[in-house]
Formats: sequence, structure tokens, C-alpha cells
Amino acid sequence: MSGNTAGRAHYEELDRADRLAAFREKFDLPEGVIYLDGNSLGPPVKAVQGGLDQAVSGDWAKKLISSWNQAGWFNLPTELGDGIASLIGARPGEIIVGDSTSLNIFKLATALLKPDGNRRKVVVERGNFPTDIYILQGIVRLFEPRFELHLGEHDEIPGLIDEDTALVLLSQVNYRTGRRFDMREVTALAKTAGAPIIWDLCHSAGAFPIDLKGCGVEYAVGCTYKYINGGPGAPAYTYIASESIGAFEPVVTGWHGHARQFAFEVDYDPEVSIKKALVGTPSVLSLIALKEALSVWKDIDLNAIRAKSLALTDAFIALVEDRCAGHGLTLLTPREHDLRGSQVTWSVKNGYEIMQALIERGVIGDYRAPDAIRFGFTPLYTRFTDVYDAVTHLKDVLDTQEWRNPEFAVRRTVT
Ligand SMILES: Cc1ncc(COP(=O)(O)O)c(C=O)c1O
Repeated sequence: MSGNTAGRAHYEELDRADRLAAFREKFDLPEGVIYLDGNSLGPPVKAVQGGLDQAVSGDWAKKLISSWNQAGWFNLPTELGDGIASLIGARPGEIIVGDSTSLNIFKLATALLKPDGNRRKVVVERGNFPTDIYILQGIVRLFEPRFELHLGEHDEIPGLIDEDTALVLLSQVNYRTGRRFDMREVTALAKTAGAPIIWDLCHSAGAFPIDLKGCGVEYAVGCTYKYINGGPGAPAYTYIASESIGAFEPVVTGWHGHARQFAFEVDYDPEVSIKKALVGTPSVLSLIALKEALSVWKDIDLNAIRAKSLALTDAFIALVEDRCAGHGLTLLTPREHDLRGSQVTWSVKNGYEIMQALIERGVIGDYRAPDAIRFGFTPLYTRFTDVYDAVTHLKDVLDTQEWRNPEFAVRRTVT
């Protein structure tokens, strides 16, 4: 054992002192597994099963189509939007839940890009999650040759925002490195340049406090299946600041966004509220699962979440650097707290095989090509001893070269 970090007893002590420790009980987690992939897919809250049973056997089976009215299904997109608002510093009435993050980016971007204006540049981080870039590439092609996509590295983004910028799309936290933009600063920069900016909150919402209002953010999207624990493929959300809803002109105009939906008029006339960002019929069962997941967040102090997240990620970085030294791991995540989300990523040769060996031992993180192993730290259910034990497994896998077992080289569809 190495010398610079404390032994397991220290982490047991931290778990005993942890004010958030009791929340773990609310989750359905398999015994013996150290789950460090909640930044990709959160686990179910125990209440989901009951919520879905009621929705299927109590409402759908008994009241059939009346459930849209009687079980409150119709209002779920706005009701859950208000639940998410409190997590990200928005006001009630500014968020609608539905569709995927990819589609919500398309919906916002097509509404915000003005083909009859003069601005040409669509700015995005080169290392952004691919779907964000792909959606913009599709839109640029749709309007060809009107707009140009400008890809920049993280540090180049401020320099790309100017009077010729038609749209900026940034993820607050980078999916690979966990590096975080200064939302306040970049939003102010875009505002000064007169360019609309969309923030993708997939890796931020539920990971730390976000102050959309305080940062002057007008448009944002995010998913609910990572830190919010809404379930696989859970519906995403769209945020439009209340001051900007009036001027927002949707391009994807579906019947759920119509001001008089059940008048079945021929011509589209948008809702005057955030509901104008709705398109088609919502996925009710997924919304029910999300509703149960959100109920856990009601009394949570997001500052406590952030404090524990930083303590967990600091501990993981220190333990890996101490106990796994000499194995060629390079930290991709910033050490500075202000620049960090709630994950830690290392680049390492044979990262895929190393991660498969860890998963076989019950330590679940993930791998992002070409060389990154990624570990998410979710303060609601991750313990300090999980951090310590995960590093013990990582050290073993590296020291014994267990990852060389040919079965760990077999590529799975989802990495
Ligand atoms: C930043 C970011 N945006 C978007 C997505 C995915 O979007 P969708 O839910 O549409 O697949 C991810 C998925 O991990 C992501 O990390």
C-alpha cells in the first residue's frame, strides 16, 4: 500500500458523518456493486415501481383514456418542468418536459436561427457531445449555404463569439473530461455580441446547483436520465426564460403546442406559454417514472450535493494518483473545483479492457473512445467507502494486469 492517502477507516468515518447518507436508501441498487456511472444512467428510485403500477393497473387499465384528465397525465410535461425548475435555478412555467435532448436542440436551434438576418456563424465546442454537433450540422445543411458551423476547442469559444454569430450551443459540463464552462461569463459574452446561446445541461442538472436566472440564461435543454435518475430514455426538457417565451417562434409546430389544441383548427396558432415548445403526445409511462425520481429531490440542498461531489471527486483523484501511480493514467478532469463537474476521467492505454475488468468485479464506470475511462460521482447514493474500494479494485486490475484477459477485449455495443 502507498503512503500519501488514508486507509479505509478514514472513508468509513466520512460515511458516518455524511449528511446525505440516508438518501441511498431511496434507491434500488444491486448488492455488492459500486455504481460510478450515474452520470450516464441513474439507478431507479424505489418509488418508481409503485408509481408505474398505479399508472398501469390503477389508471390505464381501469380509467383508460379518462386518465388523461383524471390521473393528471395531460399536465405532466408542465408539472414535471416545474419540478426540474427548482433544480436549475429557473421559475415555474419556464420548463417543459418531453422529447429527447437531441430533438429539443433541434427545436430551439431552428427557432433561434434567423435565415433572413445577416449573422452566419453557428458556434459549438469541438469536444461537445456528438449529438449536439450532428444536430447543428443537419440544420446548417438544411439552410445551405446560409450558415457556417464553427467548431472550437474549449478555450477558443469566447474568441468565436462576435457580431457575426447567429447561435452558440454549449454543454456546461463536457461529457468526456468533466470540464465546466463559466456559464455566467459566456452567457454575458454572447449577450453583448447579440447572439442567442443554448446551454445543454445534461451533465450538470442534479450534479450541482445551477443558477439559470442569475446567469441570464435564455435557452437550455437537458436530459433526465443521468443525475436526475428518471430512467433509461427518460424524457428531456426545454427551458425558455419567461421574458423570451413571447418572442419564441417554434418551427416544429405540433398540435400539443397549439393554443386551442382540442379545437382542431386547420392553422397553427402557438400557445402563449412554455407549452408552445411542446410538439406531440407525451410518453406518459416515462413521465411517471420521472415524477417519482423528482420526488426524491424535493428537500435536497444542492449546495450539500456539490460539497459532497467535490469531496468524492477530490478523494478519488488523490487515491488513484497515490495508489495507482506508475500505470500511465493521465487525469483529463480539471483539478480546480470551479472547472469541474461531478465526474473524473482518466486517459489510459487499454482503457476499454481496464473498464471491462472493473465491471466484471462490480465496479461500474464507462469508457469513451479512444482512451478515456470515466467515473461519475453521484452524492445521493455514492459512499466514500465506494470511492476507496473502487480504487482498490482499479489498483488490483492494473497491478495484476487482469485486464489482459482476452474476454475483456470483446467490444460491446454500448461502451
Ligand atoms: C451533453 C449531452 N447532450 C446530449 C446527450 C444525448 O442526448 P439524447 O438524450 O437525445 O440521446 C448526451 C448523452 O449522454 C450528452 O451527454
